[in-house]
Amino acid sequence: MRIATIQALDQADPLSAKREAFVLPEGLVYLDGNSLGMLPRIVQSRVEQVVKQQWGHDLIRSWNLHGWVDLPVKVGAKIARLIGAEPDEVVAADSTSVNLFKVLLAALRLRPERRVIVSDVDNFPTDLYIAQGVSALLGGYELRLVKKDEIEEALDHQTAVLMLTEVDYRTGYRYDMGRLTRMAHERGALALWDLAHSAGAFPVYLNQHGVDFAVGCGYKYLNGGPGAPAFLFVARRHQEAAFPFLSGWMGHKAPFAFIPEYVAAEGIRRLTVGTPSVLSMSALDAALEVFVDVDLEALREKSLRLTDLFIELMEPLAARYGFELVTPREHAQRGSQVAYRHQEGYAVMQALISQGVIGDFRAPDIVRFGFTPLYLRFMDVWEAVQRLEHVMRQDLWKDPRFQQRAKVT
Ligand SMILES: Cc1ncc(COP(=O)(O)O)c(C=O)c1O
Repeated sequence: MRIATIQALDQADPLSAKREAFVLPEGLVYLDGNSLGMLPRIVQSRVEQVVKQQWGHDLIRSWNLHGWVDLPVKVGAKIARLIGAEPDEVVAADSTSVNLFKVLLAALRLRPERRVIVSDVDNFPTDLYIAQGVSALLGGYELRLVKKDEIEEALDHQTAVLMLTEVDYRTGYRYDMGRLTRMAHERGALALWDLAHSAGAFPVYLNQHGVDFAVGCGYKYLNGGPGAPAFLFVARRHQEAAFPFLSGWMGHKAPFAFIPEYVAAEGIRRLTVGTPSVLSMSALDAALEVFVDVDLEALREKSLRLTDLFIELMEPLAARYGFELVTPREHAQRGSQVAYRHQEGYAVMQALISQGVIGDFRAPDIVRFGFTPLYLRFMDVWEAVQRLEHVMRQDLWKDPRFQQRAKVT
C-alpha cells in the first residue's frame, strides 16, 4: 500500500482529533494500550487538583464536598455506556481478579444445585486461578476447562456458570458473546464475561445479549493508569439476589450507622467492599471523560481498519521472517489486537521497543500489538512495520541484551 493512501486514511479519520487528548511521547509508536493505555491530559490536571486541593486543603471534608464516597458508582455509570449496560448496573472497585471472585461466588449461589464452572483452558490465568480458589473454598465443584471449539459441548445441565474472556489475551480471538450467552442460558447456566480486552476498545452489548455478570480492567483501553480500579457488572435482575460474600462496610446498607450486623446495600453498591482508592479512582474518572463524545461504532470501525492495515503491511515480513499470524482475519472474531507467533518473540519485541515501537510479549512465543483507535494514526501502523522490518533485516534482536528477561514481560 502506498504512503499517500495511508495518509489519506488519517485525513479521513473522524477520531483523529482525539489524539490531542493524550500525552504523546516524541517519536514513540505505542501499541500497548491493551496492557496500559496512554496518559490522557485531563488526568494530569485532575490528579493534581485532587492531591493539592481536595486532599491537601479540604482533607476529610472531601468525602462529602467532592463526592469521594460516590466515585465507585459515578465511575461505574460512565463505564456502563461503553459496555451496553445501565448506569446502575456497573461499579468501579478493586482489581479485576477480586471482582471476579465476588461475582463468581454470587453467580454460583444463584445456581446452588449445579456444580460445574465451564471456561476456556486458554483463559487469562488470573481468571482460572480465581475459579480454582472459589472451587476450593466451596468444595465439590468441577472447573471444566476446554478449548474454544469445545465450549458448546462442555455446557450441560450441571453447568452453573460459563466464565469466559471475550477477547483472548494472547491471540486476540473474539468470542461471539451473544451466541455463547444464549447457549449457556438454554442449559440453565449463567454467563459471566471478562471484558479486560473489550471495554473501551469497541462497543460491548451486555444487556442486548442478556449477560448476567461481567468484570473488566480500568488500566487498558480505558486509560485509567497503572493499577487503575477495575469494574464489575451485575444485571439488574440479579442484583437483589447477588450475595456479597466480601461483605465489607462500603457494601453495607448504612456504612456510617456502625451497627454490628451486616445488611447488604440495595443495588450494585453491595459489591463494593472497603474504602475506594480515591487517587486512582479520580484518575479513571477523568480518563473516561475522553470517551464522552466518542461514537463507539466509529471506534470499532477504526480499530478494524487499523488491525487490517497492520496485517496487510506485515504480510511480506511474516513470510520472510517467520511470523505466524494467530489473530483471526475475520472481523467478527477479532478484538483490537494483532498477535504473531515467533520463535524469538521475546528478543524481537525487546529489539523493537529499543526502536521506539512498544508492543508486548506473552509466553511462550507471542508478540502482541494492541490498537487503540483513540490515539493511533494509520501512519503509526506503517511506521511500526518499517521499524520491525529494520529489526529483522539488521538482526538487531540477536543482541544478547535483548535475550534477558525482565521481571515484567
Ligand atoms: C483477561 C484479563 N483478566 C484479568 C486481568 C488482570 O486483572 P487484575 O490485575 O486487574 O486483577 C488481565 C490482565 O492483563 C486480563 O488480561
